[in-house]
Formats: sequence, C-alpha cells, structure tokens
Amino acid sequence: MSVRILALVGSLRAGSHNRQLAEAAVKHAPEGVEVVLQEGLADVPFYNEDIDVEGNVPAAAATLRAAAGQADALLLFSPEYNGTIPAVLKNAIDWLSRPHGAGALSGKPVAVVGTAYGQYGGVWAQDEARKAVTIAGGTVVEEAKLSIPGSVVRFAETHPADDTEVVEGLTKVIQQLTQATPAAA
Ligand SMILES: Cc1cc2nc3c(=O)[nH]c(=O)nc-3n(C[C@H](O)[C@H](O)[C@H](O)COP(=O)(O)O)c2cc1C
Repeated sequence: MSVRILALVGSLRAGSHNRQLAEAAVKHAPEGVEVVLQEGLADVPFYNEDIDVEGNVPAAAATLRAAAGQADALLLFSPEYNGTIPAVLKNAIDWLSRPHGAGALSGKPVAVVGTAYGQYGGVWAQDEARKAVTIAGGTVVEEAKLSIPGSVVRFAETHPADDTEVVEGLTKVIQQLTQATPAAA
C-alpha cells in the first residue's frame, strides 16, 4: 500500500521557490510514496467560526479538509515572512485544527521544510509552523527538517528538483515522515 503525503505550500506566487521545492518532492518521492501538492489555498477564506458551520463550510476549506483527511501525513513548505509563518499557511492550519480535537490534523504526522532568502532559510517560520501544528493536534516529526537559505540566489537558475543536495535532503525528510505513518508500520 502506498503512503500518501499532502504538500501544503505557504507561498502563493507563481514562481515560488517553496512551490518548486514541493514539486521536487512530488517528482522525487521514493517508491511506495505519493506526494500530492494541494492547490487552491488562496481560495480558502480567512478562518472565521461564523462560517465554519457543519454542512455549510466554504468549498475550498472543505476540499482542504478532505484532502488532509485522506492523507497519511502532511509536508509543509514554508518561506518566512517578517520573521514568521506566512498567513496563507497559518490559515490552512487553522482550518485543519477544527473541529477542536477532531480536525483533519489530529494525530497526523507532519514535517515542515522550506526555503527563504535569509541566511537561516526561514527557520523561525518553520519553527512557528511546527508550534501551530502541534497545538492544532498534529504530530510533528521533529527530526524531519530542511531549511534552505538564500532561496532567491540558489534557485535563480536551478530548479530544486535538479539540485542534488536539495533532493537528498528532501528524500530523507520524506522517508522520516513516511516512517512516522501507521501505513508504513
Ligand atoms: C512579505 C515578505 C516578508 C519577508 N520576510 C522575510 C524574512 O523574515 N526572512 C527571510 O529570510 N526572508 C524574508 N522574505 C524573503 C523570502 O524569504 C523570499 O522572497 C522567499 O523566496 C519567498 O518564498 P517563495 O519563493 O516560496 O515565494 C520576505 C519576503 C516577503 C515577500
């Protein structure tokens, strides 16, 4: 049985290097693992308890919840915006955290990786994402980490899928995440 990993990308721009990282994960997923890139995060409204009504959840949010529910694990790709997590990714985590105690993240293994322009590759944002995921009920796979600095320069000419060091790092993260899933047991 194959392991299904849902990739959420915390950048909406077309040329996003984090999106490219996710594409590299899709392309280089080891045998028996399928990485699926979730589209449509820009269409998910800001979380609001008034619109999170059973049977009437906004379509994009319901789609996100269903995709996360069907996944064995989640892999989050986060750049850093002003020292922390981009709003689009935090919004997705918020939707996946509800209903409280029974959200789609509940008990799911989650790893966080990413790239940013700064010299630490966005570690503040990725650590914040791990914190939010933990509080939202997910199980963060702490050892599965990858923060790539200098995104704008490193990936100016080279797609991450063609960067051997990046692919090795991503492959290791995917293996660690996969090992944390019940499907791999
Ligand atoms: C609003 C904004 C805030 C940013 N803040 C940071 C930051 O705090 N640390 C950092 O390393 N890079 C920061 N950057 C640069 C991003 O890391 C860089 O543009 C990165 O490539 C964005 O990810 P993307 O390529 O996936 O869109 C910021 C960029 C934007 C647009």
